[in-house]
Order: sequence, then structure tokens, then C-alpha cells
Amino acid sequence: MHDIIRNMKNNPFIPIIAIDGTASSGKGTVAYKLAQKLEFNYLNSGALYRLVAYQALKDGLDLTDEEKVINVAKNISPIFEGKKVIVDDVDIWPIISTQEYGQHASVISPIKELREVVFDLQRKMIKTPGLVAEGRDMCTHVFTDAHVKFYLDADVKERAKRRHKDETEKQSGKTLDEIIDELILRDQRDKDPKRGSSQLRPAEDGHIIDTTSVNIDEVMKICLDHCKNKNII
Ligand code: DC
Repeated sequence: MHDIIRNMKNNPFIPIIAIDGTASSGKGTVAYKLAQKLEFNYLNSGALYRLVAYQALKDGLDLTDEEKVINVAKNISPIFEGKKVIVDDVDIWPIISTQEYGQHASVISPIKELREVVFDLQRKMIKTPGLVAEGRDMCTHVFTDAHVKFYLDADVKERAKRRHKDETEKQSGKTLDEIIDELILRDQRDKDPKRGSSQLRPAEDGHIIDTTSVNIDEVMKICLDHCKNKNII
């Protein structure tokens, strides 16, 4: 009995909730809200690729210099606090969350060896009392051992409307049709089988949630119900 208790102390059960999904499906919002509600750690895996691009550019590197970019990833040790990405005591999320860094991240994210380094950084986020991780390969590659896996998707027109609302607030001037075209291209890139293990696809043991006509609160309820059914919360 004492051994069991000691063992549980050394190896506490750490629930992992992994969420993948198409762009503007609502996965980021749901993941962050779930982490806040459950007081779990939160991993926005896209932020890691954005951060590597940021650091590489800050060091004056060319993002196509794969070897140097991989080296940058090997030497970063960011602190994640909720949505904050803290480097040298400064939250750089307001900088790296821009479209510009999304674009830079997309240049480096296909580098296979970089993904292996980032894989280790992501696994280090498994900490008590639990983890909510979101991205494109969370369920199918990085956290295949997750206790609950979700795949969020929605009709492309609905996703474009959501993004159009955000972009209008940022005054980007893009039309709804332009955003639909961008999302179709993004889906094709993300789902391309040539991406190998980072290809966006639902996990075989994942729950697919169509968010076309359900709001965030309803998606949250579906997710929380699944977690309760799995007895992880
Ligand atoms: O989700 P995001 O826009 O922050 O992602 C930024 C880039 O990183 C995007 O090009 C996709 C890539 N990415 C990835 O390849 N794998 C992940 N798990 C998360 C993001």
C-alpha cells in the first residue's frame, strides 16, 4: 500500500487533452478556455514555430538556412504562462501572433528535424495538474497517448465569416471571398499527405466536432462531457 502511494506521488496521473483542427474552426479558443476552466497547462503548438522564426530572424538568420534554424530551436527555453510566451522576461505573444509571423512559421514548420526538436519541447509541457494542447498534429503524432482527442472542423464559408470578422477588426481590408480562397489553400496545404506525420487529419480514436452551427459554449460542453465520460476530470 505504501509503495502504491509513493509510486503515485512519483508518477502522478497527468491528464492530456489534445485538440487538432482546421484553421478558424475554433480550436484555439476552445483549447484556451478548457485550460482556463480546468486550470490545466496550455500549449499552443503553433506559437512554438512562430517563436523559433522570431528568434532566428532576431539573430539575423535566413529562415531557409535549415541547419541554423534547427540550432535556434535547440537553444530556446520559452516560458508559457496561459497565452503568454515569455522570452527574457518579455511576453512576445503580441509580436508573434501576427499574420507576418504565421507566414514565417509556415516557412520553417515543414523542416523535419526542426519538428523533432519541437516535439521534445512539446512533450516537456506534460506537467501536473494536466495539459490542453492544440495544433495540427497533437492527436496524431505528438500526444498519441492523450486521454481525450478532439478534431474541430466547420464549413469553410462559416470559418471564413469568423476570420472575416477578426480581420475587419484588424482593418486588413480582405473580402470574404478572398478569405474563403485563402482557407481552401490552407486546408489543402495542412491536409497534404506529403506532410507525413504532420499532416492534419482526425485521429482514429478522436472525437470529431463540427462547429459550423454550434457556439463556443456548446463546443465547450461537448468537450467537458467527453472528458467526464473518460473520468479524467
Ligand atoms: O496555428 P498557427 O497559425 O499558429 O501555426 C503557425 C504555423 O505553424 C502554421 O504554418 C502551421 C504550423 N504548425 C505546425 O506545422 N504544426 C503544429 N502543431 C502547429 C502549427
